[in-house]
Amino acid sequence: MRHVDTQPDWDKIAEKFDLWLPYLAPVGEALLDALEARRGEVILDVAAGTGEPALSLVRRLRGNLVVEGVDAANGMVKVAQAKAKQEGWTNLRFSCMPAERLDFPAHHFDRAMCRFGVMLFDHPQKGLEEILRVLKPGGRLVSAVWGPPASMTTLYWAHLAFRDRLPEDKQPPLVKATSLGAPGILQGLLETAGFTRCIVQYFDFHYRFSSFAEYWRLVETSGIMKMQFDALTPALLTVVREEIAGYAQAHMHEEQLIIPHQAVLATAYKPV
Ligand SMILES: C[S@@+](CC[C@H](N)C(=O)[O-])C[C@H]1O[C@@H](n2cnc3c(N)ncnc32)[C@H](O)[C@@H]1O
Repeated sequence: MRHVDTQPDWDKIAEKFDLWLPYLAPVGEALLDALEARRGEVILDVAAGTGEPALSLVRRLRGNLVVEGVDAANGMVKVAQAKAKQEGWTNLRFSCMPAERLDFPAHHFDRAMCRFGVMLFDHPQKGLEEILRVLKPGGRLVSAVWGPPASMTTLYWAHLAFRDRLPEDKQPPLVKATSLGAPGILQGLLETAGFTRCIVQYFDFHYRFSSFAEYWRLVETSGIMKMQFDALTPALLTVVREEIAGYAQAHMHEEQLIIPHQAVLATAYKPV
C-alpha cells in the first residue's frame, strides 16, 4: 500500500464529526486519566477537532485550569469554539493552528494531549518537536494514535471493500491513519523528537451499535467516507455496503454489533 493522504475534508465534515465522539470517548477518558492535569495548570490539546478531549478535561476540573485547543481545520475550530461558548468556559480557547507551527512561547504548557492527531499531521516529527518546545521542562504529553491497520476495524473493512473499486487517490486513508500503529513506531518518533521516559501501550475499545443499519447510517450521515461514496455509482455502493455488512456479521452478538478497535496510548516527557 502506497502512502496517499486521502483524509476526510475536516472543514466540510466539521458539523457532523460530533456523531463519532461517543464512540471515541473511551480513548479520551484513558488519555485524561494518563494526563493527570491539576487545578491551575495550563494545558494544550493538539488537533483538538470539535473540542475533544479539551472540553471533557475542563468539565472534569470544573474550569479550574486553562486549556488551549488548536487544530489545522478552521471548520473544526469553529464548532469547538461554539461549544466552549455555549458551556460558558472562558478559560478554554480554540485556535486554528497547525501542530507544526504552534504560535505559543517555549516552556508555556504544563501538559499536552493529542487524540487521533499525530499520525495525520503533515510532518508528525515536526509537530512533536513543536509540542516539546512549548512544554515546560518535565512537562507531560499524552497521545493516542490508531493501532495497526487490521485493528482499526471499520476503516479496514472500508479498505477491503474499496481497494479494487477506486483509484489510489480515492482510497480510504487507512495507511496514514494507522501509520504509527506498529510496535515501536510511536515510541521511536517521540524519542527522535526529543521526548524521554516514553511509555506506550495498546488500548482496546469497542464501537457498539444496535444493528449494522445503525452503523451504516452513521457512516453515511457523518460524511466520513464522502470522497469514496461520491466516486461510486449507486449500484456499486450497494455492493460495497453488502460486502461491509458481511464483514460486520462476525461481530454481531445477541442483536448488538460490537466492533473492536485498538489505539496506541503514549505518555512521554520533556527532559528536565
Ligand atoms: C480524527 S480528528 C480528531 C479530532 C479530536 N482530537 C478528537 O479526537 O475528537 C483529526 C484532527 O486532526 C486535525 N489535523 C490534521 N492535521 C493536523 C495538523 N498538521 N495540525 C493540527 N491539526 C491537524 C484535523 O483537522 C482533525 O480535526
